Formats: sequence, structure tokens, C-alpha cells
Amino acid sequence: RIAGPSVLVLFGVTGDLARKKLLPAIYDLANRGLLPPGFGLVGFARRDWADQDFAAQAHEAVRKYARTPFREDVWRQLSEGVRFVQGELDDDDAFDRLADTVNRLDQERGTGGNYAFYLSLPPKLFPSVVKQLKRSGLAQSDDDAWRRVIIEKPFGHDLASAKDLHAVVDDVFPPQSVFRIDHYLGKETVQNIMALRFANTLFEPMWSRSFIDHVQITMAEDIGVGGRAGYYDGIGAARDVIQNHLLQLLALVAMEEPVSFTADAIRAEKEKVLSAVTLPDDLAKGTARGQYAAGWQGGEQVVGYLEEDGIPGDSGTETFAALRLDVNTRRWANVPFYLRTGKRLGRRVTEVALVFQAAAHQMFSHNEIEEQGRNALVLRIQPDEGVTLRFGSKVPGASMEVRDVSMDFTYGMSFTEASPEAYERLILDVLIGDPPLFPRQEEVELSWRILDPVEEFWATQGKPEQYESGNWGPESAHDLLARDGRQWRRP
Ligand code: BG6
Repeated sequence: RIAGPSVLVLFGVTGDLARKKLLPAIYDLANRGLLPPGFGLVGFARRDWADQDFAAQAHEAVRKYARTPFREDVWRQLSEGVRFVQGELDDDDAFDRLADTVNRLDQERGTGGNYAFYLSLPPKLFPSVVKQLKRSGLAQSDDDAWRRVIIEKPFGHDLASAKDLHAVVDDVFPPQSVFRIDHYLGKETVQNIMALRFANTLFEPMWSRSFIDHVQITMAEDIGVGGRAGYYDGIGAARDVIQNHLLQLLALVAMEEPVSFTADAIRAEKEKVLSAVTLPDDLAKGTARGQYAAGWQGGEQVVGYLEEDGIPGDSGTETFAALRLDVNTRRWANVPFYLRTGKRLGRRVTEVALVFQAAAHQMFSHNEIEEQGRNALVLRIQPDEGVTLRFGSKVPGASMEVRDVSMDFTYGMSFTEASPEAYERLILDVLIGDPPLFPRQEEVELSWRILDPVEEFWATQGKPEQYESGNWGPESAHDLLARDGRQWRRP
């Protein structure tokens, strides 16, 4: 799978995402030989730059953040196709210049008139860009060349705004030309969920209410809000990652086997699951939220959310969110899915744990500290990528004491190839035109449908509960599971 002749136009080139992820990913693709030799990369921004300035910026980003080693010849070939267009997003002239630049590049480097537009911008700027792409003729092609648009989350703020945003994009680009990036879907370990389930006989027979007691999905971060105050405040943990990353994980874990590995078949199964998700009747008991206070992390003292630069001292934005969801299908009836995410937690870890029912009859004394004698299959999404099976084993010695042990699969031990960055895979898929790893609008709307009532409820509940940085979230998160007679895993 190699991208064909094409140009990628990047809006928001001066942003953090472009610098840390997108430009390095493009270089890594080139370095792995997955981009065509004539590939073109055009940056568009307000900054008063010439082509060389953008190339220099990209060079710096690549040297700092690329996964693969730096190779002068690869960089030279890539940078020959780098152009920059300076302008405002609502300026007709600037977009006419963009069209000229792209069309000239097309002729010089033989890119076949195939253009992808990456909107690495806040969604409020989408309408003007999309309108300009249409006006300047860039959004359509006369022959069979393709035009695609890539949009980044957040896909709206709630269901209503997600629909508005969709209407803007849909007006110009047909659904098959719109690629929505949820970078979790580009992670190897997330793609592996389907392989694990549907390429093996071992797991699927146990993958249901007959054996599973509940599922825990955790996305914990040790970092705080960092330099992203402007984006994060008013958004909060649930909109930032539950609406997209965690609900996508839930969908992949809970869905039925798709009839084929095509985008339509996979998306249809994910949509069925998301449509079957319900919230607890009592949201006060079935959800929890918190905001990090000062504390210690990695041996350093860190400030609380309210003391972070750019955060209003009276902000009510949550930096931790947890909720219980039910999937009302025959497979999952009465198997709760508990989702939690937070910043400034004990450590950075994302995992999905399927916790099995306890054996119906316990013959041995069992160490009660860990999973209380419950087996668990843990999909380790990151950073220590792999899969762990937890089960009881006899402790060596004269007595019949059983203790939980782990059987591990670790990527580094089984594969010599390093996993590509999520963005590498996703950008390649856009250029190839391969949509299975991109959620479609229906999924986005179904996810907001799940989250909207929670947000509405929280809006009536005053400030979130404080938790100390470096801990595992607020008391209410503990209570959420304790009420059901369960406890969160300590990853
Ligand atoms: C982004 C969120 O989508 O994912 C960030 O906006 C979060 O708040 C990031 O830090 C985490 O990504 P990853 O790949 O490091 O888990």
C-alpha cells in the first residue's frame, strides 16, 4: 500500500499538531517509501513566510519529532515539493494564490490533480475554508482526480453543533471525500482489537455476558492542560476524549463481527452498538467528574488546574470524567461498561480491561487484593502496548494458595517492526482513499447523543470535585464502582 501521486494542503501549519505530529508523520511516510517521489506539501497560514521558511520549520519539526532516522536524501526529495501560501482564511486572493500554487505544483511534479486538504484548525474556522475551497475551484475536479478533506476533532460541542458543522462540510464535499480523524483509530493497538477478536477462536466465545462481569476503559494521562488552555477550558475531559476516543474503543470492543473488513460494514456495526448504549437513570450516581488540584507528579510539584496559565480562577471545567454505560443487546445485557479519563492522574496509561465473572465455586483461598479472584483480559493500548491475561495460579509451596498472575503479549517481544505513529497510518489512508479507520458522521452524532444528557446534567451540578494531582481521580469515581460492588483496576 503506497500513496499515489498527490498534494497535501495543510491549514494550521504553525500549530502544535502540525509541528509535533503531522509534519513528522509525512516525513516518516516518505522515509518508509510510502509516498510517491513527486509528492507535494503546501502550507497555508497567516505568517509572512516564503517556501524556504516553511521548509525550515518542517525540517526542525522532523528532526525533533520524526519516528524514523533522519536521511538527507529523503528530506531533500520531500522538501523539493514544499510550498507555502500566506494569507487569511477568508481572503479570496489568498485562495486564488493557493489554487495557482497547487496547480503549478501539480504540473511540475505530476501529482495527477489529486489534492487532500487537511484542516488542522479550530472548527469555527471550517466554514470559511470550505467555502473558499469551493469558490476557488479547488474542492472539485473536472476529471477523475480526487479531492478530499480531512477534519480533526472536536466534531462539534454537542449534537446540534456537530450537525451544523457537518452541514457546512457536506455542502461542498461528498461523504466519501470527508475523512474525520480520531487518532485513536490509527493506533496499532486499537486496530488490533478487531484482529484479536475476529482472527482468533480463543476469545470470541467468552466475549459476552455469559463470562464477562464488566468492562473498564481507562485513558489516564499524567500531563496537565499544558499550553492548551484556550482549547480545553469550557470543553473538558468528556467532550475532549470520551465523545470520540473512548466511545470508539467501546464500539470496537462491543460490536458484532462485521460481514467484511470494509468501511461500510465496520461502521455499520459500530453504529449499531452506539445506538444500543444507554446512560444510567440516575446520573448523579452513574457519573463522576473532577478537576485536578496541586500535587506531586514524577517527583515534581505541579499546580492545580485553576492556577494553570490561561485558566480562569473560577473555571468549572472537568479534567476527569467517569461514567457507567450499558449496551442493551443480547450479548451485553447487564454488563456495565465503565469509562474513565483524566489529566494529572497517577501515570499515563490507556487500557481496556474485560473483567470476567468469578468462578461459580471457589475451592481455594484466594489473594483478595487484586481482581478478587476475577480473571481479566487487558488490552494495553499504550504506552506498554500489548495484551495481558490475568488469572489465578497456585503459589509454590506446601499450601494450596492461589494468587493472580499475568500472561503477557508485548509488541516489542513479538515484532521487530516498530509501530507507525497513528497519524502516519491515517494520513496514508487518506491519500490512498481507504476509509475504515475514519468515523462517519452517524457515529459522531450517536456519540453526542450519548454524551449530551451527561453534559446537561453536569451543567446543573456546580463545580467538579477536586482531586490531588498524581492520584487516580476524585472520590466520586471510586464510589461509582463501589456502589455496584466493583473497583477500578490500578493499571
Ligand atoms: C487528544 C486530546 O485527542 O488526545 C488531548 O485532545 C490528549 O487532550 C490526547 O492529551 C492524548 O493522545 P495520546 O495519543 O497521547 O493518548
